[in-house]
Amino acid sequence: MVRPYGVKGLKRKKKEKYAEEEIEQKLEEVEAEAPMKKAKTEDEDETELGGIPISITDQKAKPGVIFILERASLEVAKVGKGFQLLSSDEHATFIKRSKKNPADYRPDIAHQAILAIFDSQLAKAGRLKAVFVRTEGNNLIEIKPHVRIPRTYKRFCGLMLELLQKLTITAAGTREKLMKMVKNPVTQYLPLNSRKIGFSVSSEKLVDMHDYVTTVPDDMDLVFVVGAMSHGKVDDHYVEDYLSISSYPLSAACCIATICGALQRKWKIL
Ligand SMILES: C[S@@+](CC[C@H](N)C(=O)[O-])C[C@H]1O[C@@H](n2cnc3c(N)ncnc32)[C@H](O)[C@@H]1O
Repeated sequence: MVRPYGVKGLKRKKKEKYAEEEIEQKLEEVEAEAPMKKAKTEDEDETELGGIPISITDQKAKPGVIFILERASLEVAKVGKGFQLLSSDEHATFIKRSKKNPADYRPDIAHQAILAIFDSQLAKAGRLKAVFVRTEGNNLIEIKPHVRIPRTYKRFCGLMLELLQKLTITAAGTREKLMKMVKNPVTQYLPLNSRKIGFSVSSEKLVDMHDYVTTVPDDMDLVFVVGAMSHGKVDDHYVEDYLSISSYPLSAACCIATICGALQRKWKIL
């Protein structure tokens, strides 16, 4: 079978979730290398083997942003003979048999949200510091800011499946871990001088996002917490301020585009 990315790993383990010690131990153990591959232009997707490519971004020591996508539906199960990332479109019968609601299994929401982050001028200008994705199963994934995310949904699912099974994905030609499973809680990875802002349509604080970011000190990193689930709301203890940025319920991708647009205006990134 074709392996689209250079994934470090041991033998595939037939488990969906990992204990934290196991994650740490596996992260220390994996050592494989992947051959060199050059970065591609924006809408090209990856067709070759041998390592996840990186994007060239303008990395500068200026204040930046971290996105945390909460409750992402990235759950792996053995369906038939192989392991698959569960989705409502493809596995409704299988999910119903486990007495769960197929509508809860939407990896496409995380894919669109992640693309919205990495496609933004903010990311290209080097202001994206990291992305964390916490799954419904409480697995925490860190994505480095210079990763090229697969543009097609099928490739994204393949990559997430590999990551959730092997725990780490490396850059083409180097040992750098571009995506990895990390220990909870996410707060240990957040900069001290940062404001943690959550987003929910049900927040009573309806703001114009551009007006809001102009009030934030210029030297402060910003952490944005957005839901990547189909329903329900983000509710995390570390969030300092919950904002509604529209009176309409938005997709996570649209919410992220609004956030990035506001910051691009504030920081004059064109
Ligand atoms: C697909 S929605 C989740 C659906 C959920 N019913 C909700 O509206 O919160 C994805 C995420 O986008 C953000 N979001 C959606 N609409 C928003 C709004 N009007 N204001 C602020 N954040 C919003 C929230 O973080 C939400 O969890």
